[in-house]
Amino acid sequence: MTSASTTITVKHSEAAATTDAALRPFEPGDLPAAHALSSTFNWPHRIEDWQFALSIGQGVVAERGGKVLGTALSWQFGVDYATIGLVIVAPELQGQRIGNRMMETLLDHLSPRNVLLHATVAGRGLYERLGFAATGEIDQHQGVLAALPALSTREGDRLRPLADADVESLIAIDARGAGMHRGELLRRLFAQERTVVLERGGQAAGFAVLRRFGHGHLVGPVAAPDFEAARLLISDCCRHTEGFVRVDVYAMSGLSPWLESLGLPRVGGGTTMVRGRVPGRGPAQGGWALVTQAIG
Ligand SMILES: CC(C)(COP(=O)(O)OP(=O)(O)OC[C@H]1O[C@@H](n2cnc3c(N)ncnc32)[C@H](O)[C@@H]1OP(=O)(O)O)[C@@H](O)C(=O)NCCC(=O)NCCS
Repeated sequence: MTSASTTITVKHSEAAATTDAALRPFEPGDLPAAHALSSTFNWPHRIEDWQFALSIGQGVVAERGGKVLGTALSWQFGVDYATIGLVIVAPELQGQRIGNRMMETLLDHLSPRNVLLHATVAGRGLYERLGFAATGEIDQHQGVLAALPALSTREGDRLRPLADADVESLIAIDARGAGMHRGELLRRLFAQERTVVLERGGQAAGFAVLRRFGHGHLVGPVAAPDFEAARLLISDCCRHTEGFVRVDVYAMSGLSPWLESLGLPRVGGGTTMVRGRVPGRGPAQGGWALVTQAIG
C-alpha cells in the first residue's frame, strides 16, 4: 500500500453549485458521524471498524450545515491498484450527484491507478456511469455456527500460528490471490489479529486472519493453494471463535454450500466492479475470502 502521501483535493464542480452540500477530506473527527450514517443503513460496522479503515486509507465527506451526510473511502495498493468503499449518502441527499462528486474526487486522487470496488444494487448505476464494469460476485455468509467444522488435514499439510519469518512470503501469497500488493494492510492485520498459517511440504503455503468486525468476528483474508486448504483454514478460524462469525467469499470459490452446511447462510453479497485493468484475483490465483467488501 502506497502510504497515502498526497492529501485529497476537492475540486468545485458545477454540480456543487446545485446543492448546498460541500465536500472535504475525511478527518478522524468525522468517524462518529460516519458510523452513525452507516448504522442508518443497518451496516454492521463498529466505530472501530471505521477507525481501522480510515487509518489505512483516505477519503472524503459531504457536509451540509456542519452535518456529515456522505462518506467515501479509498485504499491505495502500490502504483497500479486501489479500492474504494464505504460510499454512503444520507437518504435526504440522494439523487443530487453527491455520490458522483465524491467518487469523481477519489478517482482523480487515485489516478492513474486501476480501481476495484464491491457494489451494492443501489450503487451499480452510479459506478457503471463512471466507467466501472462488473467482473464477478461476492457471497456474504454469516451467523452462529451450527456445529464446529471438522479439520481434515491432508498428508504433508499442517496448521500453525504465524511466525515473523512468514510475513513476507504470506504477503506474496496474498498478492497473487488479491491481484495487488497489500503489504502494509497485511502487516497491520497480522499485528492485531489471529492468523493461522498453512504449511505444506515445510513451506508457508496459505493463511487466514480471524478478527473482530461488526457484530462478531470475520474470517478474511483467506489465501490458499486449493479448495480443501481454504476450507481447512476457515474451519480452524471458526474453531477459534464463539458466537457470530462472517466470511465474504468469491462466488466462484464454490465454498457457499459448505458454509451454508455449517449454519452460515448467504445473507447478501456484492458485485465486483473494476475501472481499468482487471486484476487477476480469486480462487484460481489462491484468493478465497476478502478483508472486507469495502477494502477488498
Ligand atoms: C449509492 C449511493 C451512494 C448513491 O449516492 P447518490 O448521491 O444518490 O448518487 P448520485 O446522485 O450521484 O447518482 C444517482 C444516480 O444518478 C446518476 N448520475 C449521477 N451523476 C450524474 C450525472 N452527472 N448525469 C447523469 N446521471 C448522473 C447515477 O448514475 C445514478 O444513476 P442510477 O439512478 O442509475 O443509480 C446512495 O444511494 C447510497 O448511499 N445508498 C445506500 C448505501 C449504498 O448502497 N452505498 C453503495 C455502496 S457500494
